[in-house]
Amino acid sequence: KREGIDVVVNGERFRHYGDPAMPLLWFLRDVLRLTGTKYGCGIGACGACTVLVDGQAMRACVTPVTAVKDRRITTVEGLADAQGNLHALQQAWIDEDVAQCGYCQAGQLMAAADLLKRKPEPTDEDIDGITNLCRCGTYPRIRAAIKRAAT
Ligand code: FES
Repeated sequence: KREGIDVVVNGERFRHYGDPAMPLLWFLRDVLRLTGTKYGCGIGACGACTVLVDGQAMRACVTPVTAVKDRRITTVEGLADAQGNLHALQQAWIDEDVAQCGYCQAGQLMAAADLLKRKPEPTDEDIDGITNLCRCGTYPRIRAAIKRAAT
């Protein structure tokens, strides 16, 4: 009998039968077709691939599926609630018109979701500490949106 690795993604349980060392990023994108999570650098440096694992921000490109066995993963597709109401951060991202090219923004949102859970009233330094790389330089708007969502 084939052994699989169970993971819970956005509240749904899935079993991975492939290579246990497959990066979570590719399991999400290529197996589950959840393409909101993006590939940037592939070496854990940029943050485009950030997802939540049991509520904590993690870089999916350097996280093998085996490391998240039985854990709860949230991707940007799972940030809104079950009724489809946007997360406060998603609404703030729209209100502040944060995205320019948009490529890194799913990762930014997930990192921000982790921050707000730990620090409901983050300082500029807190925000700068979690912000991922953004080639368009949307940092001031990311900061404004996180502050808007925090209030
Ligand atoms: Fe994972 Fe850059 S793609 S940190």
